Amino acid sequence: MAIVVIRQDNKIELWKNALQNADKTIKVYSYLEDHPKEDITMAVIWKHPRGSLSSYPNLKCIASAGAGVDYIFEDDTRPKNIPITRIVDPYLAGDMSEHVLAVILAHLKNLNTYKLDQVANVWEPKDYLRIKDVTVGILGLGELGSLTASDLSSCKFNVQGWSRSKKSIAGVKTFSGAEEQKEFLKSTDVLVCLLPLTPATEGILNKELLSQLPKNAYVINVARGGHMVDDDLIALLDSHHLSGACLDVYHTEPLPKSHPFWNHKKVHMTPHYASVSDTSSVIPQIVENYKRLTTGEKLQNLVDSDKGY
Ligand code: GLV
Repeated sequence: MAIVVIRQDNKIELWKNALQNADKTIKVYSYLEDHPKEDITMAVIWKHPRGSLSSYPNLKCIASAGAGVDYIFEDDTRPKNIPITRIVDPYLAGDMSEHVLAVILAHLKNLNTYKLDQVANVWEPKDYLRIKDVTVGILGLGELGSLTASDLSSCKFNVQGWSRSKKSIAGVKTFSGAEEQKEFLKSTDVLVCLLPLTPATEGILNKELLSQLPKNAYVINVARGGHMVDDDLIALLDSHHLSGACLDVYHTEPLPKSHPFWNHKKVHMTPHYASVSDTSSVIPQIVENYKRLTTGEKLQNLVDSDKGY
């Protein structure tokens, strides 16, 4: 039994060493080094090269190194019928909540516009918004969405949330299902997308949905680029229906230099950094699952393959 770490960024050694240091008795390999494929029972992955999972005949678990698992389901060469796990971690949820709070406050107080004004040597005081007058609508009330909603509520925002099935969160007005989406959207001043990306949610941030928001609404996408129809967003920003958007995720990452978001005055971009797995916090749950694999116990943080999250 052994673990292989598969990821294409510069964190592969960090993850391999963190897993190894957590338990010296476990054999951990990077997929880039020579390794005995038949010994591998767990693959700890993040945006793996398509097809790389099919070379492990004894693989028993695919462990996503992040909260999202959409990239695993997109790889139809992956071994099917083995469990997929994901990260559920207080820092991952807390970091997201802090990021969303920072973005909303910057929007209310025009901080990004003032930065642009500064660069252009413009002195132009603007009206600002107050927390008590703003309703934030969270699309998606999973681990990250629920915490973000209740944290924003503690900060005195009016908070409402929409999810596929009904959720109950103290201090948050909740809506569910297609029939309640209209009502949720029409009273949302700041929309925050925290949905999982699945075939059902792909392209959900389109003209039809976004134009149901009130005029001057602000949109924050911290989920996946695949939720957004980029041209629809640009059209609604240019027609002044939406006042702005803050995006952390894109269809292609890094975002190609030719993409219109780069130079759009109403689009505030961050480079998919809102909430990133911290190895010191998340490695123990992966090691625990590896041990459970050996004993046949039920794994933690299992993904529902039918739902895709
Ligand atoms: C980050 O995008 C994650 O899914 O953890």
